Amino acid sequence: MKNTALTFKKAKEDGEKLTMITAYDYTTAKLVEKSNINSILVGDSLGMTMLGLEDTLSVTVEDMIHHSKAVARGVKDTMVICDMPFMSYTNTDIAKAVENAGRLMSEGRANCVKLEGGTEVKEIIKAIVDAKIPVCAHIGLTPQSINSLGGFKVQGKDIETAKKLIADANAVEEAGAFAVVLECVPKGLATKISKMLSIPTIGIGAGYGCDGQVLVYQDMLGMYDDFTPKFVKHFANIGEDIVEAFNQYDKEVKEGIFPTDDHSFKIKEDVLNQII
Ligand code: KIV
Repeated sequence: MKNTALTFKKAKEDGEKLTMITAYDYTTAKLVEKSNINSILVGDSLGMTMLGLEDTLSVTVEDMIHHSKAVARGVKDTMVICDMPFMSYTNTDIAKAVENAGRLMSEGRANCVKLEGGTEVKEIIKAIVDAKIPVCAHIGLTPQSINSLGGFKVQGKDIETAKKLIADANAVEEAGAFAVVLECVPKGLATKISKMLSIPTIGIGAGYGCDGQVLVYQDMLGMYDDFTPKFVKHFANIGEDIVEAFNQYDKEVKEGIFPTDDHSFKIKEDVLNQII
């Protein structure tokens, strides 16, 4: 059965945990579809993991559409959530934000969009939801704001910032978001927010009290070593396996072991003799 915003609502009501993982291409999306994971986030983290950028700020709506389309082609039941990139919903009029969200749905074939921010984006979330586009919110450490947050830091550690996060969580729920990502939030605070909200919280670096979890797939598979945050667990070491396979291929080609007749196409001897 297709995972939708309603699946998220029901999971919260039934106390069942939700899973989300990033993917940015058709092949990976097909692998996620074969698993039990509920949803794929086509995250703007693709700026780092796929494009080698140092942050998410240069990612465009076109980039997101390009990757989201590829992911959407690889799934059937997995919900596809597409990130709205930096400046595609803030610093623009609300109509333009709705239009950009619409493009991620109609051209990117996403099932819903995600955007960063709390009270300050409440009206934007409302307008997108009114346009019948489900919105997943994202509060706490919001990577599109690293320059104003002063870097990748845990958020909500003192009374003032914790209260701000609670206000943000309430604001996005009131605006109509169907779920909210809590990134780099102390586990006690994330647990309180999860109990307070009627929509599911999806944690990343926010502890086990959240209603679900999200991870970047290259992080959890041990494929990306530019930077490994504390909250990442390596569920496999695919990066090492890939390098080993590359080396084995290199060795076999150079030693004449690969390819063999099994990997080659035949031509009749008499045809061959008549050409040269
Ligand atoms: O872009 C992304 O991958 C994200 C996750 C870290 C939640 O927003």
